[in-house]
Amino acid sequence: MSELNAALEHPTYNYKVVRQFAIMTVVWGIVGMLVGVWIAAQLAFPALNFDLPWTSFGRLRPLHTNAVIFAFGGSALFATSYYVVQRTCQTRLISDKLAAFTFWGWQLVIVAAAITLPLGMTSSKEYAELEWPIDLLITVVWVSYAIVFFGTIVKRKVNHIYVANWFYGGFIVTVAVLHLLNSAALPVDLTKSYSAYAGTVDAMVQWWYGHNAVGFFLTAGFLGMMYYFVPKQAERPVYSYRLSIVHFWALIAVYIWAGPHHLHYTALPDWAQSLGMVMSIILLAPSWGGMINGIMTLSGAWHKLRTDPILRFLVVSLSFYGMSTFEGPMMSIKTVNALSHYTDWTIGHVHSGALGWVAMISIGSIYHLIPVLFAKERMYSISLINTHFWMSTIGTVLYIASMWVNGILQGLMWRAYNEDGTLTYTFVESVAASYPGYLVRLAGGAIFFAGMLIMAYNVYMTARRDDTASQTAPAASAA
Ligand code: HEM
Ligand code: HEM
Repeated sequence: MSELNAALEHPTYNYKVVRQFAIMTVVWGIVGMLVGVWIAAQLAFPALNFDLPWTSFGRLRPLHTNAVIFAFGGSALFATSYYVVQRTCQTRLISDKLAAFTFWGWQLVIVAAAITLPLGMTSSKEYAELEWPIDLLITVVWVSYAIVFFGTIVKRKVNHIYVANWFYGGFIVTVAVLHLLNSAALPVDLTKSYSAYAGTVDAMVQWWYGHNAVGFFLTAGFLGMMYYFVPKQAERPVYSYRLSIVHFWALIAVYIWAGPHHLHYTALPDWAQSLGMVMSIILLAPSWGGMINGIMTLSGAWHKLRTDPILRFLVVSLSFYGMSTFEGPMMSIKTVNALSHYTDWTIGHVHSGALGWVAMISIGSIYHLIPVLFAKERMYSISLINTHFWMSTIGTVLYIASMWVNGILQGLMWRAYNEDGTLTYTFVESVAASYPGYLVRLAGGAIFFAGMLIMAYNVYMTARRDDTASQTAPAASAA
C-alpha cells in the first residue's frame, strides 16, 4: 500500500475502495458526458460523424448510454453503497480483496465496452448491448458485489438494517435477475451471439429489462443515496421512517410490471400494454411518496439551502425526480404515447431523470464524500460547488425544455393530415424544424459537461490541499 493510502486508511472502514469508485465516478462522468455532447453536436452538425464507422452516431450513442449509466452511475452506486453499508452497519466490508476485485472487474467491463461498442460489436439490445463474454464478466463482478454487500450486512454490529441498505439491496438483487434473464443468448463466436428469445417475446423481455434498468439501476440505488445523504447533509432525521418502508415495498411491487409502456401499439397483446399503462400510473404514488419523504427531511433545515450548495444539489435532484416520475406516467397513457413515442420528448424525459435526478444526486453525494475519504475538513472551494450547481441546473433545464418543444413539434407535424388524406409535412421538414432545439440542447449539455470539469478540479484540489494552510472562506459566506 502506498504511503498516501496508508495515511488515508480508516481504522474501522474500508475507504480505499469507496475512494477509488468515487474518483472514477467523476472520471467516467466526464467521459460519458463528453460523448453525450459529441452526439448532441452530431445531431445538429452531421459532419461530426467524420464519415468513419467508429465515430458514427449509431456506435457512439450506445457508448454514451453505457458510459453514463454503467460507468458513471454504476461507480457512484458502488462508492456510495460501500460507504453507506459500512457506516450504517458499523462494520468493515466483509472482504477487502473481493471489494477490490469488484472495482477492477467493473473498470474492466467499462474498458471492454469502450473498445467493443465503437467497433460495432453489439447484441443490439438497448442498455444490454455488450456481447456475451463481457456479460459473463459482469455476472461474476455482480455476484461478488452482492457477496460483499450482503455479507457486510450479515456481520453488522447493529440490529437494525437502515432503509438505504434496503434500496441498495433491492437494486443489487433485481439487476442480477434482469441481467441474467435478458442477456440469455446463443453465442456463435467470441464477438457475436443471438438472443435466446424471438419476436414479441424478445421485445417483452427486453423492455421488462429496460424499464427495470430505469427502475432499479437508475432509481432504487439512487434512492438509497437519498435516504443516507439527504439526512446527513441536512443534519436532520428522515422525515418519516414508516413512509420509507411503505415507499420501498410499493416501489418494488409496482415497478416490475410497467415495462410494456415501451411497447404501445406494437404486436404485444393489447391487455399487456394496458396493464403496463395502469401500473405506470400507479407508480406515481410510491415515486412521489419517496420524493416527498426526501424533501420533507429538510423540515426545520430549509435555511441551510441558502448556504449549502451540496444540499441544493440533493434537493433539486429530488425535484427533478418528482418531475420525471410525473411525466413518465403521463407518457405511459396510450393516447399521450401516440404523440410522444419516437420523438425528442422521450429524450427530454430521459434526461430530466438522468441529468436532473441521477447525475445531480450523485454529484451532491460525491461532494459530501470526498472530504471524508481524503480526511479533509471540507471541499477545497464551496463557491466552485455553487457554480457547478447552477451550471448543472441551467444545463438540465435547457436540455429538457428544448426536447419538450422538439418532441411536441415533431409529434404534431407527423400526425398532421391534409383534407385529401395526404401528410401535411414531409419527415425532413420535421427534422429541419428540430434544428434550433438541437442547438439549445447542445448548449445545455455543454454547460452541464463544463460543470463536471469544475468538479474534477475541485476534487483534485481537495485531495491535495493542506487543511491547515489552505482554508478558504467559510461555507456560509462563500456560497
Ligand atoms: C452532458 C450531458 C449529456 C448530453 C449532452 C447527452 C446527450 C445525449 C444525446 C444527444 C442522446 C441521443 C438522443 C437521440 O438519440 O436523439 C442521448 C441519449 C441518452 N442519454 Fe444522454 N446526455 C448527457 C448525459 C446523460 C446522463 C448523465 C445519462 C444517464 C445517467 C444519460 C442517459 C442517456 C440515455 C439513457 C439515452 C438514450 C435515450 C433513449 O434511448 O430514449 N445521458 N444523450
Ligand atoms: C414513475 C416513473 C416513470 C414512468 C412511469 C416512466 C415512463 C416512461 C415512458 C412511458 C417512456 C416512453 C416509452 C416510449 O414511448 O418508448 C419512458 C422512457 C424512458 N424513461 Fe421513464 N418513466 C419513469 C421514470 C423515469 C426515470 C426516473 C428515469 C431516469 C432516471 C427514466 C428513464 C427513461 C428512459 C431511459 C427512457 C427511454 C427508454 C428508451 O426508449 O430507450 N424514466 N419512461
